[in-house]
Formats: sequence, C-alpha cells, structure tokens
Amino acid sequence: MSGFSAEWLALREGHDLGARNPIVLDAVAGLFKSHNAINVVDLACGAGSTVRALSSHLPARQRWDLVDNDQRLLTLACGGKSTGDVRLNAVPLDLSGNFERVLDDTKDVITMSALLDLVSENWLDRLTRHAASQALPVYAALTYDGRIDISPSDPLDEAITSAVNAHQLTDKGFGPALGPSAAVAAISRFEALGYSVVQGNSDWVIGAADQEIQLELLAGWATVASEIETVPRRDIDHWLSRRKNEVGARASTMRVGHVDFFATPMATR
Ligand SMILES: C[S@@+](CC[C@H](N)C(=O)[O-])C[C@H]1O[C@@H](n2cnc3c(N)ncnc32)[C@H](O)[C@@H]1O
Repeated sequence: MSGFSAEWLALREGHDLGARNPIVLDAVAGLFKSHNAINVVDLACGAGSTVRALSSHLPARQRWDLVDNDQRLLTLACGGKSTGDVRLNAVPLDLSGNFERVLDDTKDVITMSALLDLVSENWLDRLTRHAASQALPVYAALTYDGRIDISPSDPLDEAITSAVNAHQLTDKGFGPALGPSAAVAAISRFEALGYSVVQGNSDWVIGAADQEIQLELLAGWATVASEIETVPRRDIDHWLSRRKNEVGARASTMRVGHVDFFATPMATR
C-alpha cells in the first residue's frame, strides 16, 4: 500500500477516529455552537476522513470544500455523503502551488489531518500567515510527532525509528518536510500571530489483534529506513522478520505519536 492509497487511508481511518483528541474536538465544537451553518475547507482531504470525524461536532448545515490533488480520493471523499444539510464540494488542486485562493473569506474554518508533517517550513509559513490575514481558525489533526514505541522492544528499534524520522524530513512535494517537528512549529507560529491554541496528543494505540495495520506500518518503516541507509539493509530485513513473527504471534503492540490542535485567532469573523 502506498502512503496515500485509498486502501491505506481506509486502514488507518479507524485508528485515526479513535485517536483524535476529544478536548481539541470539543474546542472546535464550542467555537461554532451558536452557528446555524458553517463553511469548512479541508486541505489534503484524502478520502474524507475529517468530514466523517468532525461533521457530528459542527452545526447541522455544512458546506465542505474538499481539496486534494488526487482525483480518485476526491471522488471517494465526495461520494455518498452529500445530503441536504451536508454539502461536499470537490476541489482538485495541487497544494504545493498557489493554494491561498481556496482559503477565501467565505470560510469559517480550515481543517486538515495527517498533512502538516508533509509540508515545508515555507509552506507552513504561508498557511499560517494567510489564515491569520483572514482571521480563520485552524483545526489540524494527526500530525506525526516522531514517537514510535513497539512492545516488546527490539535492539534495532531505536535505529529504525531514527531512520524513519530522518526520512520524514525529506521532500514530500512541498520542499524539505517538517516531519516530527511540524506540530510544534505550527503551534508556535500560530501563537506568534496572536492565536490561542488548544492542543493534545492523538496517538495511535494499536493492539495485538490489529495485525493488518501493524504489518503495513512495519513494512513501510523498513522501506523508508532502508532509503536513509544508516542501518544496513540486512539488519533491517532481520528486524522486520522478527517484528512480523511477534505480530503473527499476537504479541506485538504499538503506540505512534500524533498531535492535534485547534488554533483560534483573537477575533473570529
Ligand atoms: C496522509 S494523507 C491524509 C488524508 C486525509 N486527510 C486523512 O486524514 O485521511 C495525505 C493527503 O495529502 C494529499 N496530498 C499530498 N500532496 C498533495 C498536494 N501537493 N496537493 C494536494 N494534496 C496533496 C494526498 O493525496 C493525501 O490525500
């Protein structure tokens, strides 16, 4: 499964839903509780995970502009859920270019999930400045923060995690990526622009029975670690094989660190 495939996004969505931080979700709901209707723009929407996670926390009448550069994912995101009260509008756009026009003044909130760790410092700067110029609140969920804990531990875990986190800093289409430092960087930028930020962890807590996602994660980590070349491929292969045996024996559990935040400007519109 590739990093943005529909299959991978479907596999991770259940874990994402359980992991989203409830205090941060409450903060989003609280800001809009007196609204009758809301206009949302969801950046890098994938197959629509944020719509499904957030919709029930928002005013009943919703219009979502769902932005992604993958037409297949956009079709999945918009399929089925446009009802009288929740309108879904697909916006095909490469967000690495000029994306500011989708954050226009008809919007009430910008949302995103599993995006910020992919973007560069420069892109983050553009997003935060533009959001601030429009006094727009921003909900950003499930930003990977560099923590990988696997139990039982293995002598190679630390070296693999370091290689994975080094790979996180490589270009994902937006310039050199912020990777594990993205959430901290975004929160401090919003605070510097006068926003108040509610934040909390949204770690995946993956049980021994969740074998499919564990195997996908392990295979993905082995692949990206080998691209970094700090650990010999043979050692990575042996690590992967030990790890797969643990998963197969239902002896393996994982925690993968993420951060959610909701940033609100001093004066909202
Ligand atoms: C990790 S997925 C997250 C998807 C969704 N937000 C979720 O939580 O399931 C990252 C998303 O970013 C989108 N993406 C990556 N690069 C992009 C770009 N340059 N422009 C627009 N979307 C992009 C991918 O197509 C994918 O849907």
